[in-house]
Amino acid sequence: MSKRFYITTAIDYVNGQPHLGHAYEKVVADVIARSRRALGEDVFYLTGLDEHGQKVQQAAQAEGKEPQNYCDELASHWQSFAIRLGLSNDDFVRTTQERHKTVVAALLNKLHAQDDVYKGTYRGWYSWRQETFLTDKDRNPDGTWDPIYGEVKELVEENWYFRMGRHQQWLIEHIEANPSFVSPDYRRNEVLGFLRSVTLDDLCISRPKSRLAWGIPIPFDSDYVNYVWFDALVNYLSVPIARGEETSLWPADVHLIGKDIIKFHAVYWPIMLKAMSLSLPKQILVHGWWQKDGAKMSKTTGNVVDPVAIIDDWGLDAFRYYVIRELAIGPDGNWTDTGFASRYGAELANGLGNLINRSLSMLQRYRAGIVPARHDELAADATRIANETIDHLRTNELQAALQSIWSLVNRANQYVDQTAPFKLAKDPAQAMRLDEVLYNLGETCRILGVLLIPFLPATSAKIFAQLNLTPSLRLDDAQWGALPTGHTISAPIPLFPRRDAEKK
Ligand code: ME8
Ligand code: MG
Repeated sequence: MSKRFYITTAIDYVNGQPHLGHAYEKVVADVIARSRRALGEDVFYLTGLDEHGQKVQQAAQAEGKEPQNYCDELASHWQSFAIRLGLSNDDFVRTTQERHKTVVAALLNKLHAQDDVYKGTYRGWYSWRQETFLTDKDRNPDGTWDPIYGEVKELVEENWYFRMGRHQQWLIEHIEANPSFVSPDYRRNEVLGFLRSVTLDDLCISRPKSRLAWGIPIPFDSDYVNYVWFDALVNYLSVPIARGEETSLWPADVHLIGKDIIKFHAVYWPIMLKAMSLSLPKQILVHGWWQKDGAKMSKTTGNVVDPVAIIDDWGLDAFRYYVIRELAIGPDGNWTDTGFASRYGAELANGLGNLINRSLSMLQRYRAGIVPARHDELAADATRIANETIDHLRTNELQAALQSIWSLVNRANQYVDQTAPFKLAKDPAQAMRLDEVLYNLGETCRILGVLLIPFLPATSAKIFAQLNLTPSLRLDDAQWGALPTGHTISAPIPLFPRRDAEKK
């Protein structure tokens, strides 16, 4: 079986509330997945939930529920969230599923048989909140612990360790030799800087059941469960294996993650794979973090963006458009309600929406909805912009692709203003010219419908419905001239109603 394009997201902690950051990451992955499909690739898009560990155990306890029941309830909430975002994921993994646990146990057994894990005594600092061991190097300059660690206590216990230290050198060489392995560049430099400056310790991969029972059992030592990160990372592999699709899916093409979890993905995960003699993913693609109004989003201060509320209010495609257009994959972003309303008004309502609506309305009014003879006045611009858009999609430059698409929107809106078809319509001597203009506009609308497939799937489908054409699924269809002369379009309906007066 030939290799499919395999993209994953981070799997979200099931006990958290789905917020803008989660929605953003999943939408970015969805746009990449849809782009690849529209480019003719066979795509597999995986997302899901991280359900084990201390935080989940504690949250379930606080609600007086069995952890599994607690997870099941929340998982259905997250799955409806994925649907609200219009995700085209091909599977949804939960780390409490048998199919996942089986692979994790097999992996642990293999590492054990190979002597890649050993039992040792740990003595030191432990952050309960982050479920991580700390050293004095992790302290603030004044000796305190960063508040992100919560309560930090000293701990002495026996645990299982993964021999990670011996993998440092080849990993540095791999990252140096493969510039796109960690992207963008500044994230790659961050990983290299880290790897060159510290000595990698072996990784503690177990937790005593007496302290934490909610995890995947260590198959060769019944007193322990597996460390949640060692469990969670394996999801990327357990799903392909469980589906019998390991050879067509592995290695992953893109692991899309946020900047806070780079070390797990660009250091621990490649080393785990190497120890299992498996190939490494092609790319760890790291996105930035959203703030709201210039401050960290936080439930306690109420400074959050609820993506579902935005979608209910403004529509899914408006949300998808804003997050991709506002922020390239890499830097941090800042959500403001006014910024959102302003892009909605200028770029969706007055930009794209107005272009499609006035172009199709004029075709209805002046030519009874019948497409005139082909004319190529905008062909060169449309072709150049379509090619540019497709190039950006091939390199996952989604924001740049939207900028290209909107340069066509703007070009065509300018064309309406310059050619003034409403004036041409008043002069019978200009009938030919009006035909030309209406063909150029109708065909540009169709091409925009094609280019928008990955970003705004519902809007793309509406454009095709209004053109009375079968929806396009392939970016190849962006070639100029496919709108058939003599074809009758349907009734135009505004795509993005204006609402400037209402929202300020
Ligand atoms: O880290 N802006 O789960 P998680 C953008 N379970 N992205 C954000 C964000 C923000 N404000 N806040 C969070 C975990 N994210 C682990 C992952 S993967 C094997 C295990 C991103 O629910 C974050 O960077 O805390 C991460 O990529 C994803 O949301 C899930 O975060
Ligand atoms: Mg987090």
